[in-house]
Amino acid sequence: MIRRTTLDEFIITGQRSMQDASGEFSGLLRHLGIAAKIINRVVNKAGLLDILGLDGGINTTGDTVQKLDIYANDMMIEYLRNSGICAGVASEENEDFIDFYDRNLLRSSYVVVIDPLDGSSNIDVNISVGTIFGIYKRLSHEDRRLEKRDFCQRGSELVAAGYVLYGTSTMLVYTTGKSVNGFTYDRGVGEFCLSHPDMRIPERGKYYSINQGYSQSFSPGISRYLDHCAGQNKALRYIGSMVADVHRTLCLGGIFLYPVTRSNPEGKLRILYECNPLSMLIEKAGGKSVNENNERILDLEVNALHQRCSIIIGSAKDVDEAMEFIG
Ligand code: AHG
Ligand code: MN
Ligand code: MN
Repeated sequence: MIRRTTLDEFIITGQRSMQDASGEFSGLLRHLGIAAKIINRVVNKAGLLDILGLDGGINTTGDTVQKLDIYANDMMIEYLRNSGICAGVASEENEDFIDFYDRNLLRSSYVVVIDPLDGSSNIDVNISVGTIFGIYKRLSHEDRRLEKRDFCQRGSELVAAGYVLYGTSTMLVYTTGKSVNGFTYDRGVGEFCLSHPDMRIPERGKYYSINQGYSQSFSPGISRYLDHCAGQNKALRYIGSMVADVHRTLCLGGIFLYPVTRSNPEGKLRILYECNPLSMLIEKAGGKSVNENNERILDLEVNALHQRCSIIIGSAKDVDEAMEFIG
């Protein structure tokens, strides 16, 4: 039987080559792996735990909140706080960032951005959901309180990004800026094991992914491109969990689009928690990610924690072709 490298082993090997002497960054990645296992345990048996359904609230960006959104958010924050090596978190579920400042603890130079549960409208019907994370080096001094600018950094400043997909199997995929590596959770061992080393996105793919239900409010360029896709006999796939749609795109190639719409004139997806981490992963795997104005997502200025943007992400040649239509 093949003996697979565990996530911990992989991170520690990476620590040596990165000269992360203090182990702070590696420790943070390992804590994200632990939080993923805890969320996975609950997502997997959600139907048995009275944790399905609406929480009754609306989050800061106006989305309906599910009980599992809250659970995943609380778990991520608790694990990152207890790690002692994370300075603070900004989450899609919290209006403001959370500063873990504690006079008695060691200072940390890293902050984390999270979408604790992505695709949460799919939870109750047993369709894949995910967790997205990004890690930035803080800009403010380690002895001080965190500031908004520590989180509102361009995506190009990310030092790591990743996601966990709670799918037919649970996978954790991440990059620290070199290769993109995927780990599948082995329940028997209780570890994420390296299953997809050095993931590369195909140059082109046969799938396109968009919520066609909003077609009435797409720009003429987007509509022209969608007609072109249909004319090319491309297959439409749309799960409604960005992590799952982007994971398929990463593995098989193709394109995912969430353009501006009448109800979301800035786009729906959040730059800090969704677009930047996934754009870093796709770019590091050889793909592309831009907005409707053909600006690279990772170069966009971030002015607010919950800022949104349009996104066109996927195989390099498919994105280039889409932009020829979109203009
Ligand atoms: P979240 O569950 O974190 O709010 O994210 C949902 C997002 C994303 O995962 C997905 O691609 C998109 O919303 C689906 O939106 P529509 O239902 O408007 O297509
Ligand atoms: Mn999301
Ligand atoms: Mn979410």
